[in-house]
Amino acid sequence: MIYNMDSIAGAKQFLPDESVDVIVTDPPYNLGFSGTTQTRTRKPRFQTIRNDNLTLQEYQRFTFQWLRQAHRVLKTGRHIYVFIDWRMYPYMAIWMRKVGFTIKNCLVWDKVNMGVGWQYRYQHEFIIFAAKGKEKARRIRSRKSTDVVRVPRISGNKTIHPTEKPVELMEAFIHNSTEKGELVADFFLGSGPVYEAAQKLGRACVGFEIDEEHFHTASLRGNKEENNSLEKQEG
Ligand SMILES: C[S@@+](CC[C@H](N)C(=O)[O-])C[C@H]1O[C@@H](n2cnc3c(N)ncnc32)[C@H](O)[C@@H]1O
Repeated sequence: MIYNMDSIAGAKQFLPDESVDVIVTDPPYNLGFSGTTQTRTRKPRFQTIRNDNLTLQEYQRFTFQWLRQAHRVLKTGRHIYVFIDWRMYPYMAIWMRKVGFTIKNCLVWDKVNMGVGWQYRYQHEFIIFAAKGKEKARRIRSRKSTDVVRVPRISGNKTIHPTEKPVELMEAFIHNSTEKGELVADFFLGSGPVYEAAQKLGRACVGFEIDEEHFHTASLRGNKEENNSLEKQEG
């Protein structure tokens, strides 16, 4: 089930304590990002994403609010994956610890192909991998997974969201941290790759997206998967 609403209010309304098996989420990084620019007009292809242009103090408040909800709804010992880049990593890691997560590792998404940037062009982002609580956390499924995940990024002129992530990346995390039928949550759906990945893997998914247009994109992706699997079952 996905909702077109603020995730802080949504979690309070719809998610009981300790009800979620994994959280995979890609929050605004507070970089005022609106995607790559169009070649001809040089204008950004999208509007700046919501909550991506705050003062540091506002961003901290916003982040604490959603992290507290994420911590409340996640089952003890289960995993959370939070996307972030090098500029915000130090803050996010401290804030996650403050709300009670135990950071287990910093994963690197190697995007294989370089992106924008002048001095050493960007080719990676971080994913903070953490668990709820200090006691025994669950182990990931694959013993062979390393902390560098190589999945090609979607090229700027093909994206349907300014900060779109590949479904394959989300699948790897969901597969490693859940069993079939368990519940995946995403507090910042964007165009919905977590939603699509969860459906592909036979997991339930709950997610929130505040922007109407992005929510619409996400719901189409979800439906596409559902329709595909329906077609497969029927065919
Ligand atoms: C970094 S993007 C996620 C992109 C997504 N991973 C994808 O691949 O399409 C963050 C998303 O969070 C949404 N957002 C910002 N504040 C929100 C809030 N309070 N509640 C729900 N969604 C929010 C933005 O509209 C944006 O689409």
